Amino acid sequence: MTKDLVTVMKQEVGKAAANLVKSNSIIGLGTGSTTAYAIEYIGERLASGELTNIVGVPTSFQAEVLAKKYGIPLTTLDAIDHIDVAIDGADEVDPQKNLIKGGGAAHTREKVVDSLADQFIVVVDAGKLVDQLGSTFLLPVEVIPMAITPVTRQLEALGGKPELRMGIKKAGPVVTDQGNLVIDVKFDRIDNPEELESKINNLPGVLENGLFVGVADVILVGEIIDGKPSVRQF
Ligand code: A5P
Repeated sequence: MTKDLVTVMKQEVGKAAANLVKSNSIIGLGTGSTTAYAIEYIGERLASGELTNIVGVPTSFQAEVLAKKYGIPLTTLDAIDHIDVAIDGADEVDPQKNLIKGGGAAHTREKVVDSLADQFIVVVDAGKLVDQLGSTFLLPVEVIPMAITPVTRQLEALGGKPELRMGIKKAGPVVTDQGNLVIDVKFDRIDNPEELESKINNLPGVLENGLFVGVADVILVGEIIDGKPSVRQF
């Protein structure tokens, strides 16, 4: 059976990012199906001896589980003073390299790790590129459980249409790695992502939202051109 094209693009871009990792470095390990391929290929390079002395900082339980599976040693932010490079996916990327993240409910820890990295490399398939953030994806907002009702009202007052994220194969809402809930918000237009990012984060009870403004350094885009996978960078 042939692999679907989106999977091929994700694999290629994951591999391209893994190939940028250098020996003797501290790596932020992102979350999601695209980064999962990067983690797998970093593990392969380590196992083959092509890469030595690396340590990862996971952005989620998923990243932690994958790093263990592929033999990547892990550390925590308490034990290090910098991160050389972070590799992470995104749900939308605009031409200014601003992002929406949080499709996997991991954006809070992702923002901590990705922002600390000297270089933050984003890995996406071509379907994630948009002219304006919010065009295709709802904006995830992590909220402490007791504040769900007031924060929902306040997000409506900001012009959004909020909905509590529900679990799949789990009754009830999605619970984040930190034990909080996620509200996904549809905004008709996000004209000023920087302003919206701080307005939402200023609502009492909000832990973090999925707008990543001015954080990404390099975007690697997996594409299919003339039936063949390729990776472009901007
Ligand atoms: C996790 O919360 C997200 O920020 C992911 O990085 C994002 O959803 C991209 O995931 P995929 O690579 O699975 O599309």
